[in-house]
Amino acid sequence: MYSRIVGTGSYLPRKILTNRDLEKLVDTSHEWIVTRTGIEERRIADEDQKASDLAMEASRAALEAAGIRPNDLGLIVVATTTPDQVFPSTACVLQAKLGVENACPAFDVQAVCGGFVYALALADLYMRAGKCRHALVVGSEIYSRILDWTDRSTCVLFGDGAGAVVLAADDTPGILAHRLHADGRHSGSLMVPGQICGGRVSGRPYVVMEGGAVFKFAVKALGDIVEETLAEVAMKPEELDWLIPHQANIRIIQATAKRLGLPMERVVVTVDKHGNTSAASIPLALDIAVRDGRVRRGQHVVLEGIGGGFTWGAVLIRW
Ligand code: UT7
Repeated sequence: MYSRIVGTGSYLPRKILTNRDLEKLVDTSHEWIVTRTGIEERRIADEDQKASDLAMEASRAALEAAGIRPNDLGLIVVATTTPDQVFPSTACVLQAKLGVENACPAFDVQAVCGGFVYALALADLYMRAGKCRHALVVGSEIYSRILDWTDRSTCVLFGDGAGAVVLAADDTPGILAHRLHADGRHSGSLMVPGQICGGRVSGRPYVVMEGGAVFKFAVKALGDIVEETLAEVAMKPEELDWLIPHQANIRIIQATAKRLGLPMERVVVTVDKHGNTSAASIPLALDIAVRDGRVRRGQHVVLEGIGGGFTWGAVLIRW
């Protein structure tokens, strides 16, 4: 048995924060942000919204697109770095909010911006093992809560949002291949070092990043991971119809596309409107490209991402 994506959904909070708005908060400029990152605006969740609320909206849209009822789900995986709380997992909270009463397994994956490809690969393996017929895989993030809004080197980069896919068991493979990696020696390059300790937050509870080091590592790792993933099924980059990368920085996306010999017309870009939504960025971009008709049945699509850890990975799909 194989797995196939049969529905996608996404959710973006209503509040838009533009680069011009950020100019009033920190010493930055619209021009600097656009030139260095490609970001023009990002969404910010309301104070009373949690990652599970964003996930619920995206999941409902994906379930509706798939024509699947919540109680048909046999697995729920949420990739998030900004969970509702320490525990229970955002996936368990989401399960209840969706009204799933069949006691299917539900858990979070913590692989930062690599989280969605990790979660999707795990769900595919679970389905290939014949354990369930339908799975929900979600990326949901509220980074605005872990940003230091006085630190211009990080606060301009991220945004909030959620994306979801529904997988169904199928005789023919929709998910063709995946490769995952991690290298914890780089954990200090991108982190939120804070933790709850004795009723207090100990350590810095905000994103801390060595931007240049992450950038350099990302460009090499993402090119390599796409080539490795395609090699599993003896495919070449030029045979790809779409590259849907993690949306951190337009320059990283362009460098990866160039390395793979793919024109930007075959790359889905949302970083301009969403900023970096971490584990949500890939399913958000996928949903947008599916709904606007760019990604069509039979096409070959690669999803790839990298995040703190470092973790990185790619998933090859025949849509
Ligand atoms: O999602 C997980 C993966 N994350 C990433 O992939 C992010 C990877 N890194 C990046 O995207 C880029 O490294 C950044 C966008 C974070 C930074 O771009 P950069 O071209 O590497 O700039 P830089 O860090 O070398 O900084 C250049 C200058 C510095 O000033 P000096 O030292 O040259 O005088 C910074 O202080 O830009 C300054 N700067 C800013 N200026 C205006 C840093 N942030 C800002 C800002 N506005 N917001």
